[in-house]
Order: sequence, then structure tokens, then C-alpha cells
Amino acid sequence: MNGFPPKTFFIAIAILLTLSACNNPKPLYRLDKLPLIPLPLSLENSEEVLEISSIHSIRMEGSDSNLSSMAQDLKIFWKKQTQQELLIQEGSTEKDRSISLEIKEDSSVKMGAYKLLIESHKIRIQAKTSEGIFRGIKTLEQIILLSNLHSKTTLLALAGGVIVDEPQYEYRGAMLDVARHFFSVETVKRYIDLLSSYKINFLHFHLSDDQGWRIEIKSWPKLTEIGGQTQVGGGEGGFYSQEDYQEIVKYASDRYITIVPEIDLPGHTNAALASYAELNCDGKATALYSGIEVGFSSLCVDKEITYEFVEDVIREISALSPGPYFHIGGDESLVTPQEDFNRFMDRTLAIVKKYNKIPMGWYELIGADIPEETLLQFWAKSEDFSKIIPKKSKLLISAASYTYLDMKYDSITPLGLHWAGYLPVKKAYDWDPQTLVPDLDSHQIIGLEAPLWTETIEDFYDIAYMAFPRIIGHAELGWTDASLRQWEDYANRLSFHGRLLEALDVKYYASDEIDWK
Ligand code: ACM
Repeated sequence: MNGFPPKTFFIAIAILLTLSACNNPKPLYRLDKLPLIPLPLSLENSEEVLEISSIHSIRMEGSDSNLSSMAQDLKIFWKKQTQQELLIQEGSTEKDRSISLEIKEDSSVKMGAYKLLIESHKIRIQAKTSEGIFRGIKTLEQIILLSNLHSKTTLLALAGGVIVDEPQYEYRGAMLDVARHFFSVETVKRYIDLLSSYKINFLHFHLSDDQGWRIEIKSWPKLTEIGGQTQVGGGEGGFYSQEDYQEIVKYASDRYITIVPEIDLPGHTNAALASYAELNCDGKATALYSGIEVGFSSLCVDKEITYEFVEDVIREISALSPGPYFHIGGDESLVTPQEDFNRFMDRTLAIVKKYNKIPMGWYELIGADIPEETLLQFWAKSEDFSKIIPKKSKLLISAASYTYLDMKYDSITPLGLHWAGYLPVKKAYDWDPQTLVPDLDSHQIIGLEAPLWTETIEDFYDIAYMAFPRIIGHAELGWTDASLRQWEDYANRLSFHGRLLEALDVKYYASDEIDWK
């Protein structure tokens, strides 16, 4: 023998190599092929593969008190999806096999920006703020869920790489009308959970309208004792106690969603006018209303008690709402003469400012003397909108024919209305908030919001059917840069989300525009 290994040695090595290659679990997706929604700003693959079983802990790095509740939630999620129990630890170390949540001073400045790194023995989520960490965790959860739901075996591995991500708009909103029909705290929480998983960060709560007053006001108790007791169709209605409302605000805030309370004024106020005779110009309470007409009610603009009422309501709700905005409605006040409307709004806007909130309102507010920081919500088709909007005002785009989730998908949709046209999934996605209204200054637009009016919507099942999947497209419009958005690519990614919604027991509208996987 000259020291050269025999042939059997090479055969043994070859068998070992083959076996070990078979034992290395393969990820289902390359990182840049993951059907994520919203699409992140950038996704870069690496050659590394992370074996799920190699992760042993969640590590919190940075002094932010919100990290530990996020770590707890992630631990529960991980156990459910991978059957593996993780420890939660504090402080930084390079060595352990962990998911590290790292608050870092030097990351991007946009609220919600984050970086997600998947390495061979570690997952890192880095951000400047706990909000960024939360958005990064939502991306990681989506990666795990999609991989689990679409792979034939148990999830064993993830492809390595880096996601760098940040939102396009600072306001990515949804609106729920709880006045036309009332929804329980549990139903609202379920909607909030789903919204947060797609990185929506504002929920505008339409708390009062002709058909119902839905929030307890301690200084005006009949608002809910009388005005909360019906809804469209004559059902029993309901209202949130101040504790219920605070529970919702907290639940949303834990998911990085800010609640925007709306009290619609001076029109859309029949529920208040039915509760207190003195708010009416003729001193007579109106009857409760359970139809779906609009534009017939108005507070009495010339009575001082009207402003006492408005101030009490704004004061009590502002004290329960940590968010920056207070929405005072202003739409369709068709029986309030314009001059009265302007006078009423001038005083109401000053009250909102007195309680340290930024006024927000439907765009009809522009007739009044609006403070510069007022956020105007554009909803209807108006050819000359850009001409009438003050150049300094901030705008939220909620164009009815693109964002109203109560518009029917098509002529046979059993729920919804169609006064702004039908709104199929492609139409709801394939537009740009920057260019929809001609001649607007792009820096005025702070985001978009998808309202769900509920004249025909009665429970979570109905909310889910009208909101999903269209709200997912809105979430991407709000988050993902317009240059990265493209309908075919989105439709393909969305096709993987049907199973994800099913796993959450969300009965979405399975539009035939999408080739559901
Ligand atoms: C609205 O749809 N009346 C704002």
C-alpha cells in the first residue's frame, strides 16, 4: 500500500455526504420569492439556511418596556407554529441561537422601519423603535405562516437573507362604522388583529350617526340610554361604556394601531337629537331612526347648549383617546345652511384644539376657517378638489370609488351598496393615492384610509366578507412604494393568502380575479 485510501473509503464518504444533504431541511421559499403582503422595500437572499430547530430563545436587546410583551406573544406564536418552546432572555450576545429583538439607534428614521435578518443560527429583527420591531415580527410571522400552510411537511427551515423595510405613508388606515350597526368589543378586536397583521396603523371609529350613538358620555347619559338603543333595520343597537372603549384603545395600541374617534357633526346627528330635546331648534326630540337615508339632521347651530354638548363630548372622548386626532365629521350636512355650518365648525375646531387634539374631518370642512394642521379626508368624487383644498392642509385619501369597502364587488354581491360603483379586487388595488386626484401637492398626502360603512353589515362574518381581501390591497398601497407595486405580482402573492385567512377562520370573498392556491 502506498498510503492512498482504498476505493471503499471514497464510497463511504460519498454515502455520508448524500445522507447529510438529505438531512439538511430545505426551505419552501427563497426569501425573495416569499408571497409577502405588504411587499417589503428590499429582499436579499443569502446562501444560508436556518433550521427552525436550531432556535432556542428570544433575546431582547435594548431598554424598551414594550419588548417583553412582544417577546411573550412571539413565544406563543412560535410554539403554536413549530411546537418548540423558546426561552426569553435579555441583553446581547452573538453566540446564542435566538430570535433577537434589537432596538438600535442607527436604523432608519421612518416610524415602523425595520430590518429582518435570517442567518444560519439566528433571526434578528432590528429597528429604532418598538413599533419597527413589531412590524418586523409581523413579517416574520407571515413568513412562518405562509411556509407552514403551503408546505407538504412540517416547517423545518427558512431561507437566509435580509429584508430592509419601511412604510411609504405615515397613515395607513381603516374605518369601521359602528353607528349603522353596532359591533361587540370582541368583533372589533378581531378586526384589529387582522389589520395589524397587514401593518395598518390607524383605525378610525365612526362612533355616532343618525341611527345610533355608540359611546358613553357621562355628562350626557341619555345619548346612549336612548340614542344607543337602535340601529339600521330596527335591531337593539348597543354602545361602548367608557371602559369598553378604553379596552379597545389599549388593545389597538398594543398592536401599534391608533384609534381615531369620530363624532359626526353637525349633520348625521339624529341619535343625539332623539336623546335630548334641547339640542333641537324647536325644542322637540326627534324619533329614533333606523333607515339608511342621509343628510336630514342637524344640531341647532344658534343655541349655546349645542356648544356645551359638543365641548363635553370632545372633552370626555379626548381624555380616553391617546392618539393625536379627533374627527368631527362634517360630511353631508345637507340641511345646515353653509354659513351656519362654517360658524359651527369654527367654534368646534377651536374646542378640538382646546383639548390638544389635531382636528380631522371629511373634506366638506374646507368652507370653515380650518387651522393649518387640520387633516382633511377626501371621500367623494369632486373634479375641482385640488382647487378648493388649501395648499397647507394635510390630506387623507379615501376616495369612495377606490377605498369604500362597503361598495359591492360586482352586481351579484349579496352585501353592500353601489352608489360609488362596483369595487372589484383589482380596482381596489391598482391605483396610486399620489395621482388619483389631479394637481394635488404630493407632500400634502399623508396616507389613505379604507372605510367600511355598515348599513348592510351586521356581524364579523359580513365585515370579513367585504373587507377581505380588498383591505389587504389597501394595506400594501399604504406601505409599499408605488414603484414596487404591480397588479400581476400582487395578485400572485395574494393567491397564497386565502389559506392564511382560512386558518384564521376569516370567510373572505374568494374573487375569481385571483387564482387562489
Ligand atoms: C361619507 O361617505 N359620507 C363620508
